[in-house]
Amino acid sequence: MSKATAPGKIILFGEHAVVYGHPALAVPVTQIQAEVRIDRIISAGIRINAPDIQRNDKLDALAPSQPLAATVRNTLTALEAGSLSGLSILIRSKIPVASGLGSGTAVSVAIIRALAKHLKKPLTDEQVSALAYKTEKLYHGTPSGIDNTVVTYARPVYFVKGRAIEILQVKKPFTIVIGDTGIPASTKEAVRDVRTQRHKNPMRYETLFSAIGSIAHTARQLIKGGMPESLGPLMNENHALLRSIKVSSPELDHLVETARAAGALGAKMSGGGRGGNMIALVQAKKAGTVAKSLKEAGAKSTIITKIT
Ligand code: MEV
Repeated sequence: MSKATAPGKIILFGEHAVVYGHPALAVPVTQIQAEVRIDRIISAGIRINAPDIQRNDKLDALAPSQPLAATVRNTLTALEAGSLSGLSILIRSKIPVASGLGSGTAVSVAIIRALAKHLKKPLTDEQVSALAYKTEKLYHGTPSGIDNTVVTYARPVYFVKGRAIEILQVKKPFTIVIGDTGIPASTKEAVRDVRTQRHKNPMRYETLFSAIGSIAHTARQLIKGGMPESLGPLMNENHALLRSIKVSSPELDHLVETARAAGALGAKMSGGGRGGNMIALVQAKKAGTVAKSLKEAGAKSTIITKIT
């Protein structure tokens, strides 16, 4: 038996603009994990069992573009084990799907690592991330690569597409409350719509993306400099810009306003948007109050996480 896990993630700053080469910041959320377990079985072929999403399939029966199947096939090819047979792959995940918390990415990373472990052929983080990126393309169409990077490295990252990754040194830990609208949303569609709008109005969108990118850049300085409490206004500004590119939603705006009114230092939507999750920066002692207010305002669930 071989097992591997991978965490969820949130984008702190820079989503969407990151697709067009601007910087963004993301951090892992270790309270929520995907777990993959591999066992030998007597029967031929490979079985993929994902009870959380009511799937139990033979690999051979799945289309090449099915993300779980693609991840397994790409990984076995990379590990030179394409003809492997007699395996069961059990996927469990506590990360809500279609909520901007990286559920699909975490499952990919856990599958890749579990297969590498099973075959005793270790992969570097860079190789794991590159394999997960192949699946991201199936989920997202034109992903920046930030999700597979933060989930693979499981550390805070400052990410610019096409550049070497930068692990972010968090000088002073800070607390984030995550609130789930409970509304499933497709990152692929949000990214596609932004692309269409950008095509119609390139100047306006480039200006908005640059403003988002410079917020991410400033945030990096504040985190490295040990001044995380100053990130609040940047979150508010980033949220306003995300509203301008039409990826927020009334439910996200409502939770963002609720968090601010409950004493958060700043708040914004996080990830693809249109639904899914929002995040709020809080003083540690206020985390419980903000989480409670979010629940009362309709959040399906909340997570309090410390960024270190
Ligand atoms: C999704 O977590 C972040 C987006 O910027 C898409 C991407 O970067 O691939 C919306």
